[in-house]
Amino acid sequence: MNDREFDLILLGATGFTGSLVARHLHDTYGDTLNWAMAGRNLAKLQHVQSELNCSVPLIETDSADAMAMNALVARTKVVCTTVGPYALYGTPLVAACAAAGTHYCDLTGEVQWMAQTINHFEQLAQESGARIVHTCGFDSIPSDLGVLYTQQRMQAHHQCYADTIKARVGRFSGSASGGTIASMMVMMEQMGKDAGIAELMANPYSLNPQGEQSGPDGLDENQAIYDTDFEQWTSPFVMAAVNARVVRRSNALQGFPYGRQFSYDERQLTGVDKAGQRKAKNIAFGSRVGPAVMSFGPIRKLASRFLPKPGEGPSPEAQLNGHFELFFHAASTAGSRTVRTRVSGDRDPGYGATSRMLGEAAVCLAQDDLKCPGGIYTPATAMGENLIKRLQRNAGMTFEEV
Ligand SMILES: NC(=O)c1ccc[n+]([C@@H]2O[C@H](COP(=O)([O-])OP(=O)(O)OC[C@H]3O[C@@H](n4cnc5c(N)ncnc54)[C@H](OP(=O)(O)O)[C@@H]3O)[C@@H](O)[C@H]2O)c1
Repeated sequence: MNDREFDLILLGATGFTGSLVARHLHDTYGDTLNWAMAGRNLAKLQHVQSELNCSVPLIETDSADAMAMNALVARTKVVCTTVGPYALYGTPLVAACAAAGTHYCDLTGEVQWMAQTINHFEQLAQESGARIVHTCGFDSIPSDLGVLYTQQRMQAHHQCYADTIKARVGRFSGSASGGTIASMMVMMEQMGKDAGIAELMANPYSLNPQGEQSGPDGLDENQAIYDTDFEQWTSPFVMAAVNARVVRRSNALQGFPYGRQFSYDERQLTGVDKAGQRKAKNIAFGSRVGPAVMSFGPIRKLASRFLPKPGEGPSPEAQLNGHFELFFHAASTAGSRTVRTRVSGDRDPGYGATSRMLGEAAVCLAQDDLKCPGGIYTPATAMGENLIKRLQRNAGMTFEEV
């Protein structure tokens, strides 16, 4: 791969998140990174280039064109893409990377599409040496690397792995972009058309390898629950369905170091008192009713008229003032040995923080001496501790015991 023209190509650099990734790469790495920006509209790419005041090479290309994707990935060690919804636009690029041995990372949280890429391209990636890594944003880096870090602390203190980890999302501030809303709408639409997708979402282990899709966890609880470990009320968390499947896949891909009975669940903390209970009940109600309402096409169409459009998202102030934190409570059998950790970050989770996570994942794939062979990985199994170090150094994130 040393003969490739670039270390990294960022595809989708003109989008809301893509332009933030471009800013992060430029500000953090300057001329020390050999990278290029790609997109379907040269004038828009030139605008991003002039905003950054840089001379990074530009490549005009269309992600729907399989031949163009083959040509693109042959020029670089790594492709980092923010072209979504991935289920609509992402497959030709993953196919090209898997065939050419080009490493790849993205921001998808679309479980149905990930299951598809694993089925279709994992073997090809294993043969070519391509490391393909989905979910390199707020979903699912804090959860997946948070579990890895927490298990390392369990080993350090108790010389064993936890067989139960509860992740609890604490304070956070942020909102959704048009691109994310478009991805959620596509997922709802595809679920309505394809019963297989609903089946996939009903399986908590649907991202595990075939034959390894069972374990102790059931579907996420959709009620308000008082958590006695955290002594707070909790509600369902909107990204738990994706994050929990990614964490379970990480355990499976490593050969079950945490055990086949390892159990993980993710919820949101809402407070200790009556107000916390009310908030938990309201969120729980929304999480039950929202998907049912949005499964109707006409309601989706109506809602999308009032929601942010592709290319739109939170203001620079909202991104800068944003923040997030997740707590992890790990316990070995019968809860006798425990560890509590916290993963936090400055900037809003969805965009300010996500763009830095994706940028660091891409540079990690391009520059770090990673040990895993080709395949379709999770962030923890592809990059693990290397990425934790990068995120703490360059992305405003902290991993700590509390
Ligand atoms: N996991 C997370 O935490 C997280 C957080 C944020 C976003 N996301 C996901 O990231 C994706 C992007 O979100 P966003 O808000 O940045 O969306 P966006 O602003 O709509 O950007 C989409 C980008 O894709 C480009 N594009 C679309 N079709 C293309 C094609 N055929 N060929 C080449 N480029 C094409 C667009 O180009 P133009 O500029 O020319 O239109 C734009 O650059 C979404 O899937 C979203 O769900 C995930």
